[in-house]
Amino acid sequence: MNITALPEQIHSIVEKRKAQFSQYDGVKATAYIAQNKDLVTDTVISLALGKNILLKGPTGSGKTKLSESLAAYFGQPVHSINCSVDLDAEAMLGFKTIVETDGKTHIDFVEGPVIQAMKNGHLLYIDEINMAKPETLPILNGVLDYRRQITNPFTGEVVQAQPTFSVIAAVNEGYAGTAPMNEALKNRFIIFDIPYISGDVLFEVLKQQSILQDGTLLRQFVSLSRDLTTLVESGRLPEEASSIRALVDACDLALYIPPLRAIESAIAGKLDDEREKAAVLNTAETWFA
Ligand SMILES: Nc1ncnc2c1ncn2[C@@H]1O[C@H](COP(=O)(O)OP(=O)(O)OP(=O)(O)O)[C@@H](O)[C@H]1O
Ligand SMILES: [Mg+2]
Repeated sequence: MNITALPEQIHSIVEKRKAQFSQYDGVKATAYIAQNKDLVTDTVISLALGKNILLKGPTGSGKTKLSESLAAYFGQPVHSINCSVDLDAEAMLGFKTIVETDGKTHIDFVEGPVIQAMKNGHLLYIDEINMAKPETLPILNGVLDYRRQITNPFTGEVVQAQPTFSVIAAVNEGYAGTAPMNEALKNRFIIFDIPYISGDVLFEVLKQQSILQDGTLLRQFVSLSRDLTTLVESGRLPEEASSIRALVDACDLALYIPPLRAIESAIAGKLDDEREKAAVLNTAETWFA
């Protein structure tokens, strides 16, 4: 991760935390590349201070990538929750189960991601936080504010989070089926916007993540992305038309098939409207004859 100088106190918090979790070598060092260097610095400082962060941005803008990079930076394991209308307290906190030992049965509690992350001081990643039913997440209010604790309704246990515990949540506002986030919930996070990257930074990401390594072709894909973004800004294409994920897919395919065909299935194909598909292909034709 490209990070500018951290304040001395934050730097020592990061080093201490890395040492604390050094036994975990399973944390992959994946690199989020930021357009705005302050984004990485500010998210690192927030987590170092034990704050919760909310990453706001469209699909394929790198929210999951950034959170993985942050976890790798601190060397901290991550527990995840994927929100949906089916998310319930058991999926977050855990559930009771009957186990048999030495012929005797007894009830055991299998701890869910929230309890595990709190007790071990790990990170908790809550994806698509606005996809959960509004009544599901308030159970976490005490976990997310200064109390940092929860009374587990299934066991009666009072669980206090370890100091290194923090929540990273991701939200894609405007996505079909999502509700605006509840204010009290949003208030418990520090909010960071994660826009689509462009220009040289995008080139660097494509170079790093695509199997396509031809610099000239990659530059053309960067130009295509810039034009698609202009169409998005003028309202002719939906925001996801400039998704970095779709662009990486197109570049990968373009190693083996003509770029226009790659763009047709990897970028245009993801859109529902025929006119939008045509707009993507017309633009692509100006770059890839
Ligand atoms: N700034 C970036 N640095 C590195 N990789 C990036 C960046 N932006 C996007 N990507 C790449 O784009 C792809 C999509 O990223 P990611 O899965 O993190 O998006 P997301 O914001 O979590 O999307 P969704 O809301 O759909 O879950 C990944 O391959 C990721 O590596
Ligand atoms: Mg994601």
